[in-house]
Amino acid sequence: MITLGIESSCDETGLALYCTKRGLLSHALFSQVDLHALYGGVVPELASRDHVRRLVPLTRQVCSEASLALNDIDAVAYTSGPGLAGALLTGAMMAQGLAWALKKPALGVHHLEGHLLAPMLEDKSPDFPFLCLLVSGGHTQLVKVSGLGQYELLGESIDDAAGEAFDKTAKMLGLGYPGGLALSRLAEQGDASRVKLPRPMMDRPNLDFSFSGLKTAAITRFKAFSGSDADKQQFKADLAASFELAVVEVLMGKSCRALKQTGLSRLVVSGGVSANRLLRVSADALKSENIEVFYPRLEFCTDNGAMIALAGALRLSRGEFSELGVVINPRWPLTDLSSTGRPVE
Ligand code: KG4
Ligand code: ZN
Repeated sequence: MITLGIESSCDETGLALYCTKRGLLSHALFSQVDLHALYGGVVPELASRDHVRRLVPLTRQVCSEASLALNDIDAVAYTSGPGLAGALLTGAMMAQGLAWALKKPALGVHHLEGHLLAPMLEDKSPDFPFLCLLVSGGHTQLVKVSGLGQYELLGESIDDAAGEAFDKTAKMLGLGYPGGLALSRLAEQGDASRVKLPRPMMDRPNLDFSFSGLKTAAITRFKAFSGSDADKQQFKADLAASFELAVVEVLMGKSCRALKQTGLSRLVVSGGVSANRLLRVSADALKSENIEVFYPRLEFCTDNGAMIALAGALRLSRGEFSELGVVINPRWPLTDLSSTGRPVE
């Protein structure tokens, strides 16, 4: 079965074709980063309009790269939530319209399920059950994944997501938006021991996170800097290193706790922040404790169509589909996920 996957929940238009026999056939992505950088954050209306411009050409592109015609597509999966309402609508309209025209089923997919399952696109793919540390721009969650649609939320951020904290701190350091990658590059030139930052919620026994105070602490330290201009650049790098280390230590500290509590021996790290080098190095260190560690390849850490095509294919092949109609769910908790679709009659 060949599934076209459509991702349009935020500022990336992602299209992909996934075959249940042959795996990923093709994928294409247009990032709107340059469009929104001017405004220092995503402008929802501009995002929707740009998705409309990109969806058809990118669909043509993935078909041509896989040497397939539209008629060869067996089903269409699209992100139906959570995300920006207008942006979700563009993908939902495209998916439902195309599926209707092709007389094929369409299925709305949960964006976070896409992130959770993204490492299954790789040759080294995790078996169920596993613990997922899902770290993106909008979410930071620890999820026990027992099977497709069997997700138990063990803990999450009570305020800013890790990616959001990276972005806000990066913006304050003048690194642009979204600045997670730029901050981590700057951190490589810094000394994390120069500035001491807190490790929020580590003293609490639960599996929740909080990154808002850490971000504020970093901003406060930056504003209080009174050294020479010559030293300011180094201070920025040192602060970036200290901030990154604090986030990674908290993420890994809570992940280790969750592994112990659940007795799981597989850890999946996914979502935009899983592209972070220090986080990957720290997670890899768990291999010496007999924990298997999995990530998506770098380009599938951030939003993409391949993870939606895969998640959709897994659900569609067990008979699920969405009714004809443009239904989106901008605020959709992961724990409500197994209610997606219903068996084909
Ligand atoms: O998963 P994603 O593309 O979007 C959401 O679903 O939210 O994640 C985007 C987030 C942004 O906050 C971005 O700054 C962050 O992932 N990010 C990184 C890195 N690459 C992307 N954060 C830290 N280090 C990176 N290398
Ligand atoms: Zn995402």
